[in-house]
Amino acid sequence: MSAALQIAPLADADIPAVIALWRRCGLVRPWNDPEADIALARQNANADVLLGRAGDVIAASVLVGHDGHRGWVYYVSVDPDHQRQNFGGAIMTAAEDWLRARGIEKLQLMVRGDNTQVQAFYESIGFGEQKRIVYAKWLDGRELTP
Ligand SMILES: CC(C)(COP(=O)(O)OP(=O)(O)OC[C@H]1O[C@@H](n2cnc3c(N)ncnc32)[C@H](O)[C@@H]1OP(=O)(O)O)[C@@H](O)C(=O)NCCC(=O)NCCS
Repeated sequence: MSAALQIAPLADADIPAVIALWRRCGLVRPWNDPEADIALARQNANADVLLGRAGDVIAASVLVGHDGHRGWVYYVSVDPDHQRQNFGGAIMTAAEDWLRARGIEKLQLMVRGDNTQVQAFYESIGFGEQKRIVYAKWLDGRELTP
């Protein structure tokens, strides 16, 4: 149960294990360098990576941050061997608390259109779909990735 999940910010020694977790969860895209994403998130006070430990195992994680207005989460992940034990709910609650403590009132996230099963998860923890069109642009001028 979620009571068994100990949640704390990531430490340097956790980096290889959390990247392995993200890969097992199918969250690493070829155009994203997870190590660089972690370093950037930890560089400033507006973002961090939270980990959930079940015993010695890193079973859950989330990259949480805010842009000065809204909160965002990325890399929401629970190890496939530990799913459906409310660890996903627990790590998202920790992300919400992290944002609330910084005065942020609304949390947003993006789900890839083909990730249908995760929609039931977010709805079960109180999120609702917002009708928006998301625009994006790589700032180094490269072609937009899917
Ligand atoms: C999405 C994810 C984080 C959920 O983690 P989890 O620990 O299994 O979720 P929880 O146990 O907290 O689930 C809470 C509720 O969400 C719903 N839910 C979770 N996973 C679900 C699934 N695969 N299908 C349908 N409903 C699901 C259920 O209502 C569940 O309650 P229940 O187990 O009592 O039925 C996990 O499946 C995961 O890491 N997936 C791969 C990575 C990913 O897609 N991340 C999100 C990117 S946007």
